[in-house]
Amino acid sequence: MKVLVVGNGGREHALAWKLLQSPQVKRCWCVPGNGGTALLERCENIPLAVEDIEGITQVAIQNKVDLVVVGPEVPLSLGISDLLREKDIPVFGPTQLGAKLESSKSWAKSLMTEAGVPIAKGKSFTNAVEAKAYITQQETPIVVKADGLASGKGVIVAQTASEAYAAVDYLFKAGFSPILVEEYLIGEEVSILAITDGITVRSLLPAQDHKRIGEGDIGLNTGGMGAYCPAPIATSDLLQRVDKEILQPTVAALRNRGIDYRGVLYAGLMISPQGEPKVLEYNCRFGDPETQVVLPLLKTPLDQVILACVQQRLEEFPPLCWHLGTAVCVVVASSGYPGKYKKGKLITGIQEAEAIGVTVFQAGTALEGDRLITDGGRVLGVTAIRENFSEAITEVYQGVDCINFDEQYYRRDIGYRAQSRKD
Ligand SMILES: Nc1ncnc2c1ncn2[C@@H]1O[C@H](COP(=O)(O)OP(=O)(O)O)[C@@H](O)[C@H]1O
Ligand SMILES: [Mg+2]
Repeated sequence: MKVLVVGNGGREHALAWKLLQSPQVKRCWCVPGNGGTALLERCENIPLAVEDIEGITQVAIQNKVDLVVVGPEVPLSLGISDLLREKDIPVFGPTQLGAKLESSKSWAKSLMTEAGVPIAKGKSFTNAVEAKAYITQQETPIVVKADGLASGKGVIVAQTASEAYAAVDYLFKAGFSPILVEEYLIGEEVSILAITDGITVRSLLPAQDHKRIGEGDIGLNTGGMGAYCPAPIATSDLLQRVDKEILQPTVAALRNRGIDYRGVLYAGLMISPQGEPKVLEYNCRFGDPETQVVLPLLKTPLDQVILACVQQRLEEFPPLCWHLGTAVCVVVASSGYPGKYKKGKLITGIQEAEAIGVTVFQAGTALEGDRLITDGGRVLGVTAIRENFSEAITEVYQGVDCINFDEQYYRRDIGYRAQSRKD
């Protein structure tokens, strides 16, 4: 089997790495890939932008690929799956309409309301005066969100009404419309990534990530500074409820709208202190860095279960098998991220890290000749799998210690919340 992975993050390195472990997968192309995918055996990078969905489709046709796995949301929301399906190329990832689950928060909210899925109460607005009038009548804190894709920069948790008014002005000025004003939910967040063939849905192991730049989960939002799996907050009772009350009704509602959704259904949940789950948002693709802790634990060949989704035979597919233990990932970033940072710094120590047993998934890296250099904000992720949290955390930081480049930054407290629940 020949596969093509779209994207260039740690998520895509993990996807390509996992797919290539399957005895069925002979070759892989990553578009555009990164320094990590360039170094994978039997894998080749193709330098096209992820937005170039026509170009990527041509690459898939020319190389007669048997499966395309789409990492990021942008090409999905541009309709890459529609294009590939037209050309009879099997693709794992929803169509443009299905991707609205992520690309329009108000569309997703109306679908979830229809499906009876628990969500935060809220309203969408196309003008600032009405949004502010609504905010005046609500309690604070309150959440103001861009409706459309905003690369993680479209959500403001406002502590006061005047902060919320400012957020409304900021989002409209930035060109977002409609915007959403939403009730603030308290609790702990968890990511449930599930896969579906449009009829059946199976969840993967639950994960949690650390979105903030600073230790103690403070400071600016990022693409994710670390993650761990399985997340101890997600008990088997909770997972059953999520399946029955959230995932299955969502898939049924998508079908009711005539959407043939084959891909990842990623529920970002808030679990209240009473243990009640509500959906904060859906994503229509694998999460990053969650993928870097979920996939290493998966024993079932990834290509096989993905094919079962694409060919709509997930119901007959045997239960997913998982390695025992806990996976922890620490993201090593360029200092300054998520603001300004420098690129082009020489990276060393990856082999030394891997020699102690961790796996390094590259993200913002590039190969310059045979020199591996930094090429982005989140440079790489180090993942350790051990029997329990304490051991995994110790090992992951031993791995991180091996890695060197100028002006690196990482959080030293990844997994602290889970560790206090466990061990
Ligand atoms: N209703 C809410 N109550 C409390 N926190 C929220 C709420 N909505 C979003 N957040 C916080 O903001 C983060 C980003 O919101 P999310 O809806 O996931 O948007 P996106 O991932 O598209 O930026 C969430 O992970 C959560 O920490
Ligand atoms: Mg989110």
